[in-house]
Amino acid sequence: MPSRTKHIVLPIHVSQHYDAPATPHWHESGWRVGMRKHNLLKLSFLVVIALFFFSTSIHVRPRRVLNDSAPPLGLPKDVQTAWGQYSPYFPVGIYLPPPTECVIAQVNILQRHGARFPNSFDTYEQSIKKLLSVKKYEDTRLDFLKEYEYDLSSEKLTSFGAAQSFNAGEEAFKRYSHIVSEDNIPFVRATRKSRVIESATNWTVGFAAASQQQYNPFLDLAIPEDQNNTLNENCPNANDGTQQKDEWLSVFATPIAQRLEEAAPGSSLTNNDIFNLMAMCPFESIAKRRPSDFCGIFTKEEFREFEYHGDVEKYYKTGYGESLGPVQGAGYVNELIARITGQPVQDDTSHNYSLPFPSGRTIYTDFTHENLMIGVFSAMGLFNKSTTPLSTRRMDTDREWVASKMVPFSARMVVEKMTCGGVIGRGFEKDFVRILVNDAVQPLEFCGGGRIKMCTMDAFVRSQGYSRGPAGKDWRKCFN
Ligand SMILES: *[C@@H]1O[C@H](CO)[C@@H](O)[C@H](O)[C@H]1NC(C)=O
Ligand SMILES: *[C@@H]1O[C@H](CO)[C@@H](O)[C@H](O)[C@H]1NC(C)=O
Ligand SMILES: *[C@@H]1O[C@H](CO)[C@@H](O)[C@H](O)[C@H]1NC(C)=O
Ligand SMILES: *[C@@H]1O[C@H](CO)[C@@H](O)[C@H](O)[C@H]1NC(C)=O
Repeated sequence: MPSRTKHIVLPIHVSQHYDAPATPHWHESGWRVGMRKHNLLKLSFLVVIALFFFSTSIHVRPRRVLNDSAPPLGLPKDVQTAWGQYSPYFPVGIYLPPPTECVIAQVNILQRHGARFPNSFDTYEQSIKKLLSVKKYEDTRLDFLKEYEYDLSSEKLTSFGAAQSFNAGEEAFKRYSHIVSEDNIPFVRATRKSRVIESATNWTVGFAAASQQQYNPFLDLAIPEDQNNTLNENCPNANDGTQQKDEWLSVFATPIAQRLEEAAPGSSLTNNDIFNLMAMCPFESIAKRRPSDFCGIFTKEEFREFEYHGDVEKYYKTGYGESLGPVQGAGYVNELIARITGQPVQDDTSHNYSLPFPSGRTIYTDFTHENLMIGVFSAMGLFNKSTTPLSTRRMDTDREWVASKMVPFSARMVVEKMTCGGVIGRGFEKDFVRILVNDAVQPLEFCGGGRIKMCTMDAFVRSQGYSRGPAGKDWRKCFN
């Protein structure tokens, strides 16, 4: 049997002095990061004084803590939530505790790494160079380029992405502390890529911090991405959505290129350059935690078209638009079924039977990439309302397939297994499943989710016929 030890990452010793990422605060002028400590102290002092004087006369209601992690980038929310898969995490719904008849027994979290720098194969800088090379700008919105220097790192997790991963760990502890104990801390896996590993470890630090260092989960397993595994998509024969996203790119980018040719005569920007320049808005805003000047070159409507580009790509890569898309998520679904049912994994796709796979844990957290998550969603039947494929010619404005809501940076799918009695269990104690994607409860119509948007565990498992059956055949098509 192959050695297991080389995949096991020993507990990472985390300094107690970890600089907890600043949380955003709402100021009238916009989101601000991290008030300084002494400001906070001053503020709390003032609040105490104020409460002392006013407590007899006014009813002090605790202010509802906004769980809206609208990131402190200084951009309007409707802009930074329209960057497709480059949007930073934001909750799509307000987390609702389970019905009173139910108790959460197990939680499975599948989470995308936090916001990263551009990929090393991205050509953003080359596109910017074209704009920098022109003699004169005819549009003042381009004037910032006169002193512009590209200085973004690549591939790695940004500090902002680390902060969002940390916050997610804190949130997980706060929500699910009742199923955590000394003998049952989260089991954590990640693919072995620095941004994925660091998202996982920042999450564990956030989890530990929220528990006042009582529970210190660590990265249990980092799986090489070049091996078949359930946390990274891998299907050499599958299409990757390039054709479809390029079709849509030519529809929406052509007029923008014409506009920018007038604004920067001689720049000769291609449609790909337009995409690159638009992508600078999210990447630079996230890296620098302030609005990038590139955002100002484009309109909100143009960013909606940019967002749709991501929707199209994801749909035709590992989504419903690619016949070998869903199979890439089937391995994870079969592992999920094993975990919630407490049975051994049965999978004919990417599950690697020689890796550790403990059962009986209450929290499992897995760190991955967005394409894998889309594969999981489409293997499961989530976001499957539309009966027609996503158009590459015009924006489908009624779609529910929106990448920014499905797989933003730090996106998470949470599968809560609960035991319910009372009316919900119809007089019995029964196991149920509820699924949240970025805090939005999924309807689970495919297993009879109904008004409470929950299915019995049995109905849920039965509904996962694709992963349990035909996926094995599709998996072989990936390679032959
Ligand atoms: C959190 O992420 C940051 C940014 O990538 C990284 O430098 C740091 O080492 C991470 N912290 C932990 C505990 O993994
Ligand atoms: C499964 O994991 C083992 C390591 O434990 C590795 O040697 C093997 O290559 C993996 N299998 C596949 C198909 O990637
Ligand atoms: C993954 O699995 C397929 C099908 O079983 C196999 O053909 C392929 O060689 C495996 N890939 C790796 C990297 O082990
Ligand atoms: C998605 O919906 C279509 C019907 O519109 C159905 O045929 C298909 O089986 C569904 N896919 C999954 C994975 O549930």
